[in-house]
Amino acid sequence: MIVAPRPLGADATIGILGGGQLGRMLALAAARLGFKCHVLCPDPQSCAFDVVRRVTEADYTDKEALDRFANDVDVVTYEFENVPAETATFLSARRPVLPDPKILATTQDRLLEKTFVTSLGIAVAPFAAVDDLAGLEAALASVGRPAVLKTRRFGYDGKGQVTIRAGDDPAVAWAEIGEQPAILEAFVPFEREVSVVVARGLDGTVQSFDLCENEHRDHILKVTRVPAAVPAAIADTARAIAGRIAEAFGYVGVMAVEMFWVAEGGGRVLVNEIAPRVHNSGHWTQDGCTVSQFEQHIRAVAGWPLAVPVRHGRAEMLNLIGAEVHDHKAWLSVPGASVHLYGKPVVRPGRKMGHVNRVFRD
Ligand SMILES: Nc1ncnc2c1ncn2[C@@H]1O[C@H](COP(=O)(O)OP(=O)(O)O)[C@@H](O)[C@H]1O
Ligand SMILES: [Mg+2]
Repeated sequence: MIVAPRPLGADATIGILGGGQLGRMLALAAARLGFKCHVLCPDPQSCAFDVVRRVTEADYTDKEALDRFANDVDVVTYEFENVPAETATFLSARRPVLPDPKILATTQDRLLEKTFVTSLGIAVAPFAAVDDLAGLEAALASVGRPAVLKTRRFGYDGKGQVTIRAGDDPAVAWAEIGEQPAILEAFVPFEREVSVVVARGLDGTVQSFDLCENEHRDHILKVTRVPAAVPAAIADTARAIAGRIAEAFGYVGVMAVEMFWVAEGGGRVLVNEIAPRVHNSGHWTQDGCTVSQFEQHIRAVAGWPLAVPVRHGRAEMLNLIGAEVHDHKAWLSVPGASVHLYGKPVVRPGRKMGHVNRVFRD
């Protein structure tokens, strides 16, 4: 049995699983609409804890804590995609959980995700399942080189993946990803990486933000620019693809679809991965748009009408990664720059510490 969602009253409490910066910014957006939030996260230093009314510091498998959490909230949502299926099922029997946890089963596994996207008639890079070294050799024969070997589960910021080029020993790559169930994907000679942040409301309304163009450094998002410098037809196609995926999932909330724009042969869009949550490439919306991705997500899970996003101008989002967080002092006096800091107590290399949004009305 699952509890069906319904529109929330203004005094409702929204439960958020996960206490990182995405949870923090969701809670801040919820507060602006008058909602209260309760964050559950095992990490005592969760930066979302600092901005909400109630926190539960507990493991995702702690049934007693989950029960108390569920009793205190009107709806449950999440800020990260690796919520254990068992946790989601447990909570779904007590409160509406949005987006529907069954979507997580698909997006937590690259093989299921790519198979699902393909089943909708949407293009992805050629791929093959890999379960052992012999399977990897067979996959290389069908997919070709260069190719990217990725673990099926738990990959992020380029972790759990390795590129196999001409002359590379497959056994080394297989060892490097820890001999885990994986997929092999053809390396895509993309022109640009782009993403669509899309929302679907409880009433089925779909609203997508403008196409973003993403630049990574060391596999971590560094800069997002909006609108993406791609032909208009490509942008339309990309947004339509994201909308179709949201509809096929019966999604409620905000999700992001990462894609590659390949210019050769007239140009096409390939889906890379789906994030069933608010996404780093949507942070620009906080200052560059009439509604942020965070507010849009809260509206969706609250069963409120979605906003129609209107962009204020050309927008740029710059991540402050690791020690770059100290650069915020310089950004504070740059005209048109908005500084966002996550309040994380420990600076670590590669850790997302904050971001700067800039809007240009040219
Ligand atoms: N098939 C591919 N071809 C070319 N580049 C890729 C491919 N797959 C991933 N990459 C690069 O690696 C980055 C991270 O891969 P991704 O699949 O998005 O995993 P995650 O973001 O979960 O670490 C991508 O943003 C892209 O820059
Ligand atoms: Mg990615």
